[in-house]
Amino acid sequence: MNDRSSSKTMLEDLLEQARQAALHSYSPYSGFRVGAALRLTNGAVVTGTNVENVSYGLTICAERSALVRAVSQFGPEIRVEAVAVANLNQAPSPPCGACRQVLAEFILPDAQVLFPSEDGMRAMPFSELLPLAFEMKLKTMPESQE
Ligand code: THU
Repeated sequence: MNDRSSSKTMLEDLLEQARQAALHSYSPYSGFRVGAALRLTNGAVVTGTNVENVSYGLTICAERSALVRAVSQFGPEIRVEAVAVANLNQAPSPPCGACRQVLAEFILPDAQVLFPSEDGMRAMPFSELLPLAFEMKLKTMPESQE
């Protein structure tokens, strides 16, 4: 098996895990059931689902729920090398802008991100999904707040 086909199998497996995670979605307000699966450089796969709240803005997306779970489980040294997103609504669901920025903190720029798009499943490197992520590069030390 060459690199490309083994990576295809890896992404298909990740997608299946994302679908399984979507079965646990708590989405009584939107009815949109999303799952995400992250493959880490340590070989682990960590999944998450969307967890909604009656105060709508407190809803947590599947991608962020997977990421906070991964850091909680393995610590802040984790790096994400691939992501798959699935939903049970047969609808497009690329990761939202907030999730992209949060993923940027822990993901490798060339990590493949697989998600349902208008034209079926689509995969692209993270650096294409969020080309200009916010970074904080201070030129001087901030003044003491005291
Ligand atoms: N949602 C996700 O889980 N991931 C995204 O990237 C976009 C949206 C969820 C949030 C909410 O529960 C539902 O989809 C509808 O917006």
